[in-house]
Amino acid sequence: MTHPAAATPRPAATLRAATPGDFAFIRGLTTRADYAPFIGDADESQLAEWSESRSARVLIWEGATARGFAIFREIGDPSGRVELFRLALDRAGGGIGAAFLADLLDHGFGRLGARRIWLDASGENPRAMALYEAMGFRREGIQRAHWFRPLLGRAVDLHLFGLMRDEWRGGGS
Ligand SMILES: CC(C)(COP(=O)(O)OP(=O)(O)OC[C@H]1O[C@@H](n2cnc3c(N)ncnc32)[C@H](O)[C@@H]1OP(=O)(O)O)[C@@H](O)C(=O)NCCC(=O)NCCS
Repeated sequence: MTHPAAATPRPAATLRAATPGDFAFIRGLTTRADYAPFIGDADESQLAEWSESRSARVLIWEGATARGFAIFREIGDPSGRVELFRLALDRAGGGIGAAFLADLLDHGFGRLGARRIWLDASGENPRAMALYEAMGFRREGIQRAHWFRPLLGRAVDLHLFGLMRDEWRGGGS
């Protein structure tokens, strides 16, 4: 079944591999105080390691009104699953998340050959979870008080989401 959100109108945007010159932009988002409850931070050497790994991709999304980054991991796992490990836009709450995620899912199911894409989200991040469900992800589980967030000084619940290739655009592109 093709999910209706798969046909979301998209602003012109490009998705490309991140270079070391992008790491400051990425870290500028992952260290933002308003994002820190929802997203982990990794230093430049870790970003470089993921960038050079065959099983990961660090990507930059550039549109007319927003820029973002995302990291895929587990590429090549024999299960066919790929983890959409981390994503953020430089302007949250602007209604552009669907276009961003649609490009990432096309990339994951198309270029990366995923049979399944999964991700997790803080249970205190309703905006991200609303977006994932709108794009067809199913909420597959909850890990209670699982993910320690230094800024909050406590652990938050993690909600696990999954989307199969045949649930996205009728089979990926
Ligand atoms: C997650 C992210 C990419 C989403 O992109 P966005 O452009 O901000 O998302 P949108 O503005 O399109 O909002 C997504 C949906 O959440 C809804 N929403 C917004 N705030 C909400 C709230 N507090 N409760 C419930 N739903 C909410 C919006 O109404 C929208 O649904 P709709 O399209 O049906 O109206 C972006 O917010 C971001 O980068 N956040 C910071 C980092 C982050 O949280 N990353 C995800 C880690 S799992």
